[in-house]
Amino acid sequence: MSIRAIILAAGKGTRMREERAKALTPLLGKPFIQYVIDACHNAGIDEIYPVVGFQKETVMESVLANAFFVQEPLLGTGHAVMQAKALKNETGVTLIIAGDQPLIQPATILSLLEQHRLHQNALTLLTVDNPNPFGYGRVITQGRKVLEMVEEWDATEEQKKITEVNLSVYCFDNRLLFEHIDELTNDNKKEEYYINDMVMVFNRHGYSVEAMKTMNLKETIGINDKVALAQATRDLQAQINEAHMLAGVTLVDPATTYIGPDVTIGPGTTIYPNTVIEGKVSIGAYCTIESSYIRDSVIGDRVTVGPFAHIRNQSVIHHDVRIGNFVEVKKSTLDDGVKAAHLTYLGDSVIGKHVNIGCGTITVNYDGTLKHQTIIEANAFIGSNVNLIAPITIGEGAVIAAGSTVTENVPAKSLAIARSRQTTKENYYAKRK
Ligand code: UD1
Ligand code: CA
Repeated sequence: MSIRAIILAAGKGTRMREERAKALTPLLGKPFIQYVIDACHNAGIDEIYPVVGFQKETVMESVLANAFFVQEPLLGTGHAVMQAKALKNETGVTLIIAGDQPLIQPATILSLLEQHRLHQNALTLLTVDNPNPFGYGRVITQGRKVLEMVEEWDATEEQKKITEVNLSVYCFDNRLLFEHIDELTNDNKKEEYYINDMVMVFNRHGYSVEAMKTMNLKETIGINDKVALAQATRDLQAQINEAHMLAGVTLVDPATTYIGPDVTIGPGTTIYPNTVIEGKVSIGAYCTIESSYIRDSVIGDRVTVGPFAHIRNQSVIHHDVRIGNFVEVKKSTLDDGVKAAHLTYLGDSVIGKHVNIGCGTITVNYDGTLKHQTIIEANAFIGSNVNLIAPITIGEGAVIAAGSTVTENVPAKSLAIARSRQTTKENYYAKRK
């Protein structure tokens, strides 16, 4: 059976109160929509179709998908799905899921798909009992069967007391969905086309519509404002940090350690407070990371980082490397045993085994238009306060004198000094008087 997912991500997220598509709101460094896409992938759904609208270009640049559908203007969740009509001739199942529920678990999606298949429903939707249902659509059921759904703003006082709420995760028979989607109306307080009204449409036609209740309230939180975002961050942070600690990573203070969901860390590694590790990162065993920021990089075993270091943008740090305080490493490869202990910028560089980078070294990689590469071969020794004007290659075992600004390649095993000679004027103080 073919399965695809339509992800509703056109909204602005008015309650976040900022000019950013809500789907791009980062949670521990990863945008909401990417969590939802990853959950779909992990549930075995590889065909992904986000519906985008507000800041559509930025959203389209940020994630990979089979195709995007554009919704303009935004006339509600049902109207968003109408934009995906190009899929109308597909068979099988279409999962429709809101892009603002990053904590949704693949196992839950799988159970929903399973119930949908076993019961041969036209629509199976996910619900949860939420003791605080304010703002959610209420689900009126009879046994498993869904009779009706009603939004907060359209609900009667009696209906508002219902705690079973809609989670905006729907399994549709694709053909039936698109055959009937134009029967949605915007006859409600907000004058929007609601996808949940497909319940009424399907019931009218006598198709089977069922609810599946999840027991995991935390995964279902729709993050609508910054207060909910902070709560979700704390919940996810606790969960991720606990898993690392159980796997043998020492977190000196888990409360001030922020590790994204796509980070792996080897056992025996110690992470000190105020460290942030985001994006796709892999850190080896027996490393020490002190109060530093690491993003989208790979780090080997027994590496020490920080305090106050910054490693980013596809950097690859091999084993036994020392990256000290106020060192920034961008898109660079540092081979085994490299030492850059203090106050250094290494950008777009490839650094060989056991190179020593003196304090204050800077790879001057940017000429205002283009970025250029610095290559430092094995066992070279770069003195303190050196500028390496890229593109440049420092040969194996070469030595660069402290204070040099080096513009030309330096052959292996040579010494380069590129600074003016010192002039000392004796008795200068007496003359000046
Ligand atoms: C929606 C459901 C509600 C459910 C809740 C669960 C509707 C009408 N209501 O309410 O029953 O309890 O989710 O979290 O569906 N979007 C678009 N285009 C639009 C409007 C919205 O793509 O025109 C997207 C948004 O970007 C968002 C998702 O759809 O990702 C849900 O929209 P949102 O406004 O957050 O709906 P809720 O009020 O949370
Ligand atoms: Ca929402």
